[in-house]
Amino acid sequence: MWREKQLSYELVKRAEAAGFEALIWTVDIGLGANREHNKRNGFNTPYKANLKSAIDMALHPEWALTVMARYILGGGMPRHENYPPQYQGKVTGKASQAKALRADAVSWEDVDRLRDLWPGKLIIKGIMRPDDAARAVEHGADGVVVSNHGGRNLDSAPSTLDVLPRIVRAVDGKASVIVDSGVRRGGDLVKCLALGADFVLTGRATLYGTAAGGEAGAAKAMAILKDELRRTMAYVGCPTIDAITDDVIWKG
Ligand SMILES: Cc1cc2nc3c(=O)[nH]c(=O)nc-3n(C[C@H](O)[C@H](O)[C@H](O)COP(=O)(O)O)c2cc1C
Repeated sequence: MWREKQLSYELVKRAEAAGFEALIWTVDIGLGANREHNKRNGFNTPYKANLKSAIDMALHPEWALTVMARYILGGGMPRHENYPPQYQGKVTGKASQAKALRADAVSWEDVDRLRDLWPGKLIIKGIMRPDDAARAVEHGADGVVVSNHGGRNLDSAPSTLDVLPRIVRAVDGKASVIVDSGVRRGGDLVKCLALGADFVLTGRATLYGTAAGGEAGAAKAMAILKDELRRTMAYVGCPTIDAITDDVIWKG
């Protein structure tokens, strides 16, 4: 949600006109996280040349040629396509600047507004509390994503697996419960499904594949997850996804 909320509403209307069916609104990143490793490595988005990253690229010529040069030749510096034109090129890795553009004050009224604007499925991402999940459903959400942003924002956040069962109970079948954060193996998918998730999302597991091999790399990462999922299902005696229930979890 941009600070000028109207810009976000315009984006939502563009998404509808482009034929998208579901809108996921991420609510857990009102301000930029303090990513110390990004600062240390000279990483920023959109990319701005600096000595640290220039040295890094010089030491990785193949990556510089096949990734960075390909971007630059094919349309310029990598950028966030969803940023309104006036924000293009303005957000950097510095939390203070990112904060200046994002709305740090969002409320349930904003959920209502989006619900009115968006005719398709509305999914709220970044829910970690059962009461918030229940409230999201009351405000018309079709689904919630139980997510701690991959543990990338608040280092003291609990794991999503720990909060998932309570959120499933709070939602009580009235909406879809989707989960992410920390899923690396097919076995993790089984654990999430066993604890009541309807869907499981992956972030870095598939991004690593993309980074290593583009589209084919992403497909490979998904094929590995699928293979591991099937193997784990076989080992715990579940022939179908529906058969994965919480009794496959050993509780001691
Ligand atoms: C490089 C990177 C960029 C991300 N950008 C966004 C984003 O713009 N919006 C968002 O909702 N989540 C974003 N996320 C978080 C993911 O959507 C997801 O919640 C998280 O990566 C899940 O954890 P996992 O990577 O351990 O699977 C990002 C994650 C990564 C690794």
